[in-house]
Amino acid sequence: MDLSKYTDGFFEVNSTNGFLPKHEPLRVLPDRYIGLQKVIDDMPIKKEDGSDGLLSIEGAIEKSVKDLPNYKELVDKEDDPFMLSALYRAYAFLASAFTLAPAHFGYLKTGKYGKAHNYIPEQIAQPLVSVSDKLNVYPWLDYHYSYSLGNYFKFDKNKGFEWENLGQAVKFSGMDDERGFIMLHVDINQNSPKLIEGILGYLNSNNITEVNNSLSLCLDGMKKVNKRRQLMWQASRWKHYNDFRVFIMGIKGNDEIFGDGVVYQGVWDEPQQYRGQTGAQDNIIPTMDIFTGVINYYPKNDLTKYLLDLRSYRPICIQDFLADLKDEMAEDDHNLFKNLIKDNNEKGLYLLLQILDEIYYFRNGHWQFVQKYIMANTVYPKATGGTPIISWIPNQITSVLNIMTEVFDSISNDTSLFSKTEFGEVLEKKKTLLKKQLQLLHGDSYDAEEVFSLNKKMNLSDD
Ligand code: HEM
Repeated sequence: MDLSKYTDGFFEVNSTNGFLPKHEPLRVLPDRYIGLQKVIDDMPIKKEDGSDGLLSIEGAIEKSVKDLPNYKELVDKEDDPFMLSALYRAYAFLASAFTLAPAHFGYLKTGKYGKAHNYIPEQIAQPLVSVSDKLNVYPWLDYHYSYSLGNYFKFDKNKGFEWENLGQAVKFSGMDDERGFIMLHVDINQNSPKLIEGILGYLNSNNITEVNNSLSLCLDGMKKVNKRRQLMWQASRWKHYNDFRVFIMGIKGNDEIFGDGVVYQGVWDEPQQYRGQTGAQDNIIPTMDIFTGVINYYPKNDLTKYLLDLRSYRPICIQDFLADLKDEMAEDDHNLFKNLIKDNNEKGLYLLLQILDEIYYFRNGHWQFVQKYIMANTVYPKATGGTPIISWIPNQITSVLNIMTEVFDSISNDTSLFSKTEFGEVLEKKKTLLKKQLQLLHGDSYDAEEVFSLNKKMNLSDD
């Protein structure tokens, strides 16, 4: 696989950057966009200086947007990828803040999301669509260029990507739980270069030792991913998730908030629908699902369709990377599981099993996020990406448990590498936990606390 083609000048997928941008994104826009930067700075519920911003006063963002100049002609002239990303980020944040402000105030008054504005004014819609066309993405807040990976800056340039050292260039709530939530996604991705290195090592390997060294790199990378992921509980307190969640809702699948869509004034007369930004647009798990073969175990249902639909909510160079990796791994001489069996590579099979276990721990820990941050906080059953939250996540955990079972069964019972009895017992426990949780979720209502407490009872708790 020749990695040199997976770049757009902002992202450059390789073993140096992984999925992070090539360098730090622009923190602010240049002076020629001063009016836009001012609204962005004034927007957060809590501004940088601690005072109340536009999103803390009902009707204020609408008033402020009225006076915003239309920068479309200037935007049309831009071509630097970092500039385009910063402009897209500014307009995408503004479009979500403007449309979703009434839903936010509705939530504060009644505990239920109110209706969003179903239009984006011309002075936002036109430059937003222009810059989205240049980047080749949907004109709605995404995970890569705007909300998460393209939205960080380092407080101390000499320090690393630990979330504590990362600030957020553009904000909705401006509170620390929002920063922790977004920046932990960036933090986790500091381990993606290692995963790419391991995968590439495997694709270029010539013998069993090289295969196993590459798998060890992937395992080490995934362990680090999970260690950082687990810090979510501290980086962003679950009780505070609703302070900023409403602003990342998508249009598609959230018809109670958006009706039949949003009109981009001065661009299209027909209402448009796009999915909302979500961690499901992150690349680590999709990449590892392809590499390990979990994708071959996805069930064929609507939920898997959503997941594949979300593949198109990514920069083109990353979509290409995922598509090409999938093709490579499907080739006979690269199919990981089959080759490990063919080569009688027991150590390799055990490494694969452990990588899969890390994917399980990622998904099961993440499922616990969903139980607490969303299910315990709200009765609204739709995720920001517009998916039915309760059925989505378990769907993918089942796929991981199914492939794990096959890999586990393929290793001989008298292996000296690990205790099969012990591993087998824990694997059964993982299956039982999910089964019991799904039983509790059957029907119209559920007790999120009861579902969550099972994790502790079964010794599979994440925090
Ligand atoms: C409090 C933290 C989090 C919550 C509440 C949360 C919530 C969700 C929800 C509700 C979904 C369903 C899809 C949708 O959005 O429509 C989802 C999917 C997903 N999220 Fe998260 N998420 C969190 C953190 C993360 C992080 C840190 C990552 C990775 C960097 C991530 C990666 C994913 C992936 C890969 C999926 C697709 C489902 C799968 O493949 O299993 N999430 N998340």
